[in-house]
Amino acid sequence: MLAQALKKSLVVAALGLSAVLPTALAQQSANANTLVSRRLTEYLLPVATETHEFARVPNTNFVLLSQMSDSALIKIELDPATEAPIAWQSFPMGRNRSSQLHGVWPSTLYPGLMWLTLQAENQLLLVDPGRTLASKPVVVRTLDIPVPGNGPHCVFEIGNRVWAGLKVASPQTGQYYVFSADVSQLNATIPRSGSNTTVAARDPKLYPCLNSPVFIKEEPATGLIYVTQDADSSIMQINVTSGATAQLPIPPEVGNNAVGMITAGGALSGVWFTLAGNATGGTGTFGHIGADGQMKFFSLKQPMLGTNAALLHIADASTVAGGPALWLLSTSLLSSNSPDALIRVTFDANLTAVADEEYVSMLTQNAMVHRVLPLDTTVLVSELHTFTLAQLAYVHTVAGQWLPAEAVTNTTVYTQAG
Ligand SMILES: *[C@@H]1O[C@H](CO)[C@@H](O)[C@H](O)[C@H]1NC(C)=O
Ligand SMILES: *[C@@H]1O[C@H](CO)[C@@H](O)[C@H](O)[C@H]1NC(C)=O
Ligand SMILES: *[C@@H]1O[C@H](CO)[C@@H](O)[C@H](O)[C@H]1NC(C)=O
Ligand SMILES: *[C@@H]1O[C@H](CO)[C@@H](O)[C@H](O)[C@H]1NC(C)=O
Ligand SMILES: *[C@@H]1O[C@H](CO)[C@@H](O)[C@H](O)[C@H]1NC(C)=O
Ligand SMILES: *[C@@H]1O[C@H](CO)[C@@H](O)[C@H](O)[C@H]1NC(C)=O
Ligand SMILES: *[C@@H]1O[C@H](CO)[C@@H](O)[C@H](O)[C@H]1NC(C)=O
Repeated sequence: MLAQALKKSLVVAALGLSAVLPTALAQQSANANTLVSRRLTEYLLPVATETHEFARVPNTNFVLLSQMSDSALIKIELDPATEAPIAWQSFPMGRNRSSQLHGVWPSTLYPGLMWLTLQAENQLLLVDPGRTLASKPVVVRTLDIPVPGNGPHCVFEIGNRVWAGLKVASPQTGQYYVFSADVSQLNATIPRSGSNTTVAARDPKLYPCLNSPVFIKEEPATGLIYVTQDADSSIMQINVTSGATAQLPIPPEVGNNAVGMITAGGALSGVWFTLAGNATGGTGTFGHIGADGQMKFFSLKQPMLGTNAALLHIADASTVAGGPALWLLSTSLLSSNSPDALIRVTFDANLTAVADEEYVSMLTQNAMVHRVLPLDTTVLVSELHTFTLAQLAYVHTVAGQWLPAEAVTNTTVYTQAG
């Protein structure tokens, strides 16, 4: 190969300088391989001890992120071409720095508005984030959580209802609850322009649950609602029509601490949840509940980053080209025995087991990574402890086609073992 190239360049050298340059370049590109890369960049946010939830404001270049430790809402502007964060502005939310801004979720019923929670003020806010980076978010509706509920943490809108996991034991009953109310009539009752109107929740429900509720999702085939409960390591099922609830405890032998949960469609249909482990670390385990209401567990196999992964959060990573896939986020939040890592998994043909596992170790270990959010072409991760937003970008390739160094297939594992 080299000899052939040398011979060719000697031939062209004989033809004179003018011919050498273009021909030599053409020779080089014929032998070159495009360099594919994964770029992980950290974007520094205002200093805070707890950087929590974030969501993109649909159809805009803004991401809203909550810093719970000082109740600040950070509005982040993304470059429309690269999705890279380029600027931020911070806005205090609630009465004071102790209001505990936490949940952030886009409203579908009220396009352009976002749901937020003030955990310490026991309120849900429906907020207009404003059109520009500098414009102050305006609270257009406030919903008080009814007594004895206490401490809305994460917030979600599902169909006509808003849902919030009440993370703090009730001062009246000592009990934890999941809150839900019909919010489909907020336009009709008061014009949207009337800013910060406290509205009474219609058809409010408080479902008693275990310690303590985090993510709340709907299983698409049955319409049943599922709720992760972290400390008591169980998943609650709610039939909204009958009001019946049931508990599905996580078997301790697979792991513990159910936190992240998503609803997925297509081949992944159902709800998927992650187990964040405990002070001794995680077990690299996540689970699925489909139309049959049965929990099925999946395990990561790679000993370096996978088998001790403490999986806090999850997102759909499916693509048309790559098929069904998930992003899993391992965190050092509960144990420094577990890595901060972003992991992409694919499945075998019948979704019975994990096929490929791709690992992206986060740049700052012990950052206590918190949430993962895929954008159109990149993936954002919030780092709780280091007030950072990390962004993963694939260059000259797409997620899931990263071979062979980082995507360890089942075949590779057994070949190496043999
Ligand atoms: C925030 O407001 C609450 C209620 O008014 C008060 O109890 C608390 O001390 C205030 N916290 C700070 C940091 O000002
Ligand atoms: C509320 O009003 C806005 C603006 O007119 C509209 O886009 C939205 O669909 C309405 N939502 C509901 C639930 O009625
Ligand atoms: C909105 O109104 C509620 C109830 O009147 C009040 O508690 C809250 O402080 C107000 N929030 C803002 C941002 O004005
Ligand atoms: C929910 O409860 C209703 C009313 O009892 C019942 O008709 C329906 O089948 C239940 N849904 C599921 C998925 O079990
Ligand atoms: C932590 O979780 C592991 C795996 O489920 C379990 O074996 C261990 O007993 C747990 N430790 C504590 C202190 O709960
Ligand atoms: C998937 O299911 C089909 C039909 O039950 C079966 O023929 C096939 O062997 C299964 N494939 C795998 C990889 O389990
Ligand atoms: C992985 O390979 C082993 C041995 O060939 C096989 O028994 C197992 O079913 C495979 N698992 C998956 C998920 O493909």
